Amino acid sequence: MAEQGQREKWTTRLGFILAAAGSAVGLGNIWRFPFVVGQSGGAAFVVIYLIIVALIGYPMMVTETSIGRAAKKNPIGAFAKLAPSTKWWLVGALGVLTGFVILSYYSVVAGWSVAYIFRTLTGALTAGTDFEVAFGDFVGRTWTPIIWHLVFMALTVGVIAGGVVKGIQRWVKILWPVMGVLLLIVIIRSVTLPGAGEGVAFFLAPDFTQLTGEAFLNAIAQAFFTLSLGMGMFITYGSYLSDNDNVPGTATRVIGLDTGVAILAGLMIFPAVFAMGLEPAAGPGLTFMTLPAVFAEMPAGVFFGTVFFILLSVAALTSAISLLEVVTAWLIDEKGWARKKAAVFLGVVIFLVGIPASLGYGVLSGVQLPVLETDLLDTYDWIANSLFLPLGGLFTAIFAGWVWGHRNAAAEANKSGVGLAVGTVYGFLIRFIVPIAVVAAMIFTIWGHFAG
Ligand code: TRP
Repeated sequence: MAEQGQREKWTTRLGFILAAAGSAVGLGNIWRFPFVVGQSGGAAFVVIYLIIVALIGYPMMVTETSIGRAAKKNPIGAFAKLAPSTKWWLVGALGVLTGFVILSYYSVVAGWSVAYIFRTLTGALTAGTDFEVAFGDFVGRTWTPIIWHLVFMALTVGVIAGGVVKGIQRWVKILWPVMGVLLLIVIIRSVTLPGAGEGVAFFLAPDFTQLTGEAFLNAIAQAFFTLSLGMGMFITYGSYLSDNDNVPGTATRVIGLDTGVAILAGLMIFPAVFAMGLEPAAGPGLTFMTLPAVFAEMPAGVFFGTVFFILLSVAALTSAISLLEVVTAWLIDEKGWARKKAAVFLGVVIFLVGIPASLGYGVLSGVQLPVLETDLLDTYDWIANSLFLPLGGLFTAIFAGWVWGHRNAAAEANKSGVGLAVGTVYGFLIRFIVPIAVVAAMIFTIWGHFAG
């Protein structure tokens, strides 16, 4: 296909780092990480998680970014270009499909977060409320959550329609400082509450007797999700990266930012939960049921609660734009669509696909898939996160390690010739450790689901 003009490029390396870290930092850090830590044994899990990030997350991020920069294409085009006349483009197709599915329900949850800004601000959630009932009542409504889902999707489309530099890069540069300030405000409040120390200890002082085999699997799933790996996001963002930028060095910074925010999110949430005598293992409801209870009890809780949900919504937005960009880049590169048209069209379709996930807590609550037997949003989440992401990651690692070749991948990563370089250790991790760990994790998750 004829090149449609010059491919856009991040204008600075910082632009790429902030966009990629903006993708990584999202609901996965602030909503998912704390509840997974809470359910998987606290600080001991955090240690396992950090090891997984270094041994699996890091080589995967370097690999995906290198594939993208080498091919300068969306995920489908990238595999097709590096391995012409093969079926490897299907891995890219799985990635594009995964982005589509994740965004459809991610936008629903992000919509709840936006709604909770206003619910907190207007005092709908004050002391004495039963927060579980209030949440169930809210998500069970037919129209309200769908309207917030629409609002959130419209914001996402608005950014992506602007393009890589004027859309994504400009917005992440504004939104990162906003996130940083909001995060610090809530942390300072949380760790200065009376009784906060117990929460800090739960989160940071490991007790390895608390670990189960499942913790290891949860850590792999969490790493893929929070680092935006396994579906070609880094292929897409890497395709806009200049050859003069050093890939291993940028990956280190992106991982540092994502891990830093996850740790800060833990410091924001656990001290508050313990100080208020609540349960750290509350699960997915931690953010929308437990935290409002915490805010309702604390001094100036309306202020801190509002700030918290603004933070969560902003973090979700910088992630949602990356999911939409993957799918949009495919329509632009492969089908020759104009950017604005592609972004709006996809936004509408993905919004519609997300509607059943939202209604699954209300009028569609009786609808379940056989075997999975859970609500629809959970079903979307399970298919995307337990199946598609690890599969995508597995095939991407095999492709880079054995087909394109780990030496080619490393050479692409190190192309700038300056800064951090990857070598033998990278080749070993991407060929052996990543595939084995991911296959093990998948077998256990699927087996656990079908046996349990
Ligand atoms: N990483 C984001 C989060 O933690 C979610 C996300 C954005 C994502 N893009 C992705 C997950 C691509 C997997 C793949 O909230």
